Amino acid sequence: MSDEVNSSGAALVEQGDDPADGWFPESVAAGYDGPGGANAPEVVTPAVDVLEDLADGPVLEFAVGTGRIAAPLAARGVRVSGIELSRAMAARIASKPGGDAVDVTIGDMTSTRVVGQFSLVYLVFNTISNVTTQDAQVDVFRNAAAHLRPGGLFLVEVGLPDLRRLPPGQDTVPFTVAPGHEGGGYVGFDQYDVVTQEFTSNHITVSPDGIGRFRRIPFRYAWPAEMDLMARIAGMKPKYRWADWDRSELTADSTKHVSVWEKDQALGALG
Ligand SMILES: C[S@@+](CC[C@H](N)C(=O)[O-])C[C@H]1O[C@@H](n2cnc3c(N)ncnc32)[C@H](O)[C@@H]1O
Repeated sequence: MSDEVNSSGAALVEQGDDPADGWFPESVAAGYDGPGGANAPEVVTPAVDVLEDLADGPVLEFAVGTGRIAAPLAARGVRVSGIELSRAMAARIASKPGGDAVDVTIGDMTSTRVVGQFSLVYLVFNTISNVTTQDAQVDVFRNAAAHLRPGGLFLVEVGLPDLRRLPPGQDTVPFTVAPGHEGGGYVGFDQYDVVTQEFTSNHITVSPDGIGRFRRIPFRYAWPAEMDLMARIAGMKPKYRWADWDRSELTADSTKHVSVWEKDQALGALG
């Protein structure tokens, strides 16, 4: 069954999906690990290299998903735990090389606690933006700090909002427009509310016979400086800020950042 669209414009889950799995139910999880894209070795390996380098003991991935990053990191001998909202996503971790060593807790990264003190907590692939209020994003930073030992690190990888591509009076930025060779095609666009910092990513797929599918996923963006304040509220201070996993310098033209904060040496485990 195709997605239906409710009155708020959000896509409803497909038949067989568990609403408790949020935006990543079975119908999404089933296609998440396809080859290429975010699963390509040239995308995964640089991230795992940096995380392995920063790890100095057990690590915790917030929103661990299907173990795209956690499983190969565990395969290198790092002790990896994960928190994940979607059972459908988490169910796929154990089948990957290294994945059976990942200790997964189903829960919300704004509040779920797992046992242990970690050298590194990390949250990659834009997922801080899946948390759609400032308060809840602060809770993510607080929860990260609560899991870190003094001097431990919190790493976030997230895209920068494309606001410089918004002409005056417009709120929408297309990121892919791809007509199909046989008809139909795909259009993807982000729609921004620059007052609330909420935005949606919208995906319209039309089959060659003209049948459409619309998915609309809510996000909230926060500038790196706002994240520095969130980190400070949580007892952490900036340590590294890169434009990508290659540790290149962040510039005005960067499209994403990889930022790392360090928990204050004087703070023990919180909360
Ligand atoms: C884009 S995927 C990233 C998964 C994995 N980190 C990766 O890099 O492939 C986003 C994941 O975040 C999970 N997620 C979203 N909000 C969450 C929350 N508040 N707590 C825990 N997991 C969450 C989703 O269920 C989904 O598996």
